[in-house]
Amino acid sequence: MSCPDRRLVADLVALSTVEGLSITEAARRLCMTRQGLYKVVKMLRREGYLLEGPTIKLSQKAREQLSLALQDLLKYFKITSITLVGYVTSGLGEGAFYLSLEGYRRGFEKNLGFSPYLGTLNIKLEPESIYRRRYLDALPGIYIPGFSNGFRTYGGVKAFRARVGDVEAAVIIPERTHHSIDVIEVIAPVKLREVLNLKDGDRLDVEVYL
Ligand code: CDP
Repeated sequence: MSCPDRRLVADLVALSTVEGLSITEAARRLCMTRQGLYKVVKMLRREGYLLEGPTIKLSQKAREQLSLALQDLLKYFKITSITLVGYVTSGLGEGAFYLSLEGYRRGFEKNLGFSPYLGTLNIKLEPESIYRRRYLDALPGIYIPGFSNGFRTYGGVKAFRARVGDVEAAVIIPERTHHSIDVIEVIAPVKLREVLNLKDGDRLDVEVYL
């Protein structure tokens, strides 16, 4: 078992509130002396949690620590899911191709426990849900690794279990995607358009388990 560095998490949460500020200004906001904050910043820069530069800037490594803290907080407050609302849309028909690839199929079966229908149901989110969707960017979800089939490489996919109607499904966020952040892709063991009688433009709630 690895032990969490409680001090580190507390420092990063505090520094996340002053990102973009100079050390002098950040120290003032955090009610610390400039020297006191400088010592913390120097150490965190050495360990790769903060980037070098004239202002406070958290690294990807720091964001990953905060993401773990966010998971703890969601658990503490018993926030287990969010509902994203949007409209069914058609895509470029690429979903079926990607889902037919052995690497992804095996990854989904192993990590999600179902064999997906060949395709992704695209949902164009309402503005409010676009903000809520940021939880999915902040959290690790279930990672399905990328693979190579000898011709080219395919990127990893982040997935969250989800429920659409009464169907247990998953929202997938490919590392490489041409979709903008207002579109989510849903996979399921069944063809959702058929089972839920959906057509383009229909409004749909997707409950995403965090
Ligand atoms: O890119 P587009 O969504 O148009 O096509 P696709 O991903 O290749 O999926 C083929 C068709 O199946 C599309 O009409 C999807 O909306 C639909 N689909 C579905 O109804 N249920 C799923 N679980 C996956 C895809």
